[in-house]
Amino acid sequence: MKWILRNQTILPRGETAVDIDDRGYQFGDGIYEVVRLYGGEPFLMRPHLDRLRRSAHELGMRADLDNGVLEENFRQLAEKEGVSTGILYMQVTRGVYQRVQEFPPADLPVQLTAYAKPMERPAEALRQGVAVWLVPDIRWLRCDIKSLNLIPNVMARQQAKEHNCLEALQHRGDMVTEGAFSNVFLVSGGKVRTHPEGNLILSGITRAHVLSLCEQAKISVDERAFSVNELLSADEVFITSTSNEVMPVVRVGDAVIGTGEPGPVTRNLQGLYEESFGMVTKN
Ligand code: PDD
Repeated sequence: MKWILRNQTILPRGETAVDIDDRGYQFGDGIYEVVRLYGGEPFLMRPHLDRLRRSAHELGMRADLDNGVLEENFRQLAEKEGVSTGILYMQVTRGVYQRVQEFPPADLPVQLTAYAKPMERPAEALRQGVAVWLVPDIRWLRCDIKSLNLIPNVMARQQAKEHNCLEALQHRGDMVTEGAFSNVFLVSGGKVRTHPEGNLILSGITRAHVLSLCEQAKISVDERAFSVNELLSADEVFITSTSNEVMPVVRVGDAVIGTGEPGPVTRNLQGLYEESFGMVTKN
């Protein structure tokens, strides 16, 4: 990665040092988004920008982020970096100000930073499925905000890694909420089920897209939380995220899910998902 977008200027990476007084650095006082690039084209950019704006609003951050300007800047960034299959990362912090916990003056400019980098699709994992690890959900009660504070996710992911699992699935009490970087779905009797939107999960852009694909494919959907036991006894499980798309889960901890191979509903949704960004990259 050679280039960084800082506010509206693309600069060489070496010229974009972070000020110690940046509130993102001091407090994690900021928000972020990750957008997929397929064939150099951002996928589902608008919903990501809408969610960025919503996160800003919920945190009382000034959100004069213009879609048109942002889209143009991000396009230039991806082009300059020469990224085809990859991701765009963007974050907005509340700005640079002496370290006080309360909000700085309202006219302090926010700091937008973004980069593009190559990231292949996880082809083999998408074919074979992955293992996940269960952890208690120790996050705050505003998981709908995509905040820079990711310490619980970092801790959860580390536990997953130590058990050779790709993702950590979190549960509050007995109810499964979501992964550290993904939403989680189960399939039982041909029906798809996932945690409803609200303060306990991030409203995933991939989640919403997959739900619309279910509707198209006439797969019935139940947006209702499920327990750990229901997860373990499901016919199929999959997770969704920008970078990992529709990823089959074939093992949860020591428990094998279904036949131990990606199931037919997951396969169907994977195919529909691929078709949908295939159409975007052809534009
Ligand atoms: N995943 N839940 C959490 C806690 C997340 O961090 C993410 C994002 C998701 C899925 O959201 P989306 O479908 O909008 O990516 C759910 C990171 C950014 C990623 O995998 O790229």
